[in-house]
Amino acid sequence: MSFSRGFVLSRGFHLSPGVSSFAKRLSPSSSTVRPLPFKKIASPNNYISRSKYTLPDLPYDYGALEPYISAEIMRIHHDKHHQAYVNGLNLAEEKFEQALKEQDVPGQIALQSALKFNGGGHVNHSLFWTNLAPTKEGGGEPPKGALLSAIQKEFGSLDDFISKFNTITAAVQGSGWGWLGYNKSSKRVEIVTLPNQDPLTTHVPLLGIDVWEHAYYLQYKNVRPDYLKAIWNVVNWKTVAERLAKAQSSSE
Ligand SMILES: [Fe+2]
Repeated sequence: MSFSRGFVLSRGFHLSPGVSSFAKRLSPSSSTVRPLPFKKIASPNNYISRSKYTLPDLPYDYGALEPYISAEIMRIHHDKHHQAYVNGLNLAEEKFEQALKEQDVPGQIALQSALKFNGGGHVNHSLFWTNLAPTKEGGGEPPKGALLSAIQKEFGSLDDFISKFNTITAAVQGSGWGWLGYNKSSKRVEIVTLPNQDPLTTHVPLLGIDVWEHAYYLQYKNVRPDYLKAIWNVVNWKTVAERLAKAQSSSE
């Protein structure tokens, strides 16, 4: 899944939006974008087009994950919460683009938090929907092959992994996410938790579980561990395996 899109420059460069765009412009060591004089880069004439992010469709019906996740939760989570992140990201980028045009560096810096929160919310949820699947479409079917081997190597067994993941993720203070990520340096899979909507950038994200209350409260109330116990019945391990294969091949 690619979330790449953003500014198209008149000189033919295509930059990812927001933080990375800003960083690339200021970084003299960037290998993908040739450094240009700052004033010229910031010129409005360098920007041709910018498309907006949109809410991706759920790959299944709202009620397809029942009884583990209710249709009501899925409808509100997708239509309201994810939509809010999309809206927030578009607004933050609009303001960021204006700040770039005006060479307003403090203004650009002030927008970093909104870009991270809303951009992370959009990226995380877009992945989350594909990390789940109805049981009749393979949701909950245990992983096999390379993914199972990687999990066994790191955690002993699938059950041990799930137990450890649930313990660590249930302990996230406030709102956040639990992740199974691929560490490109060690070539191992690891459990990571992050607060708020911080996107996983230290690892390649393979599986993300949303533990914001909006993901479970209507059904599980304040009992986050029960939600975490149930969600494995609808985890789409096939998607996780595909993401691992891609991560492993790109880090060889
Ligand atoms: Fe969420």
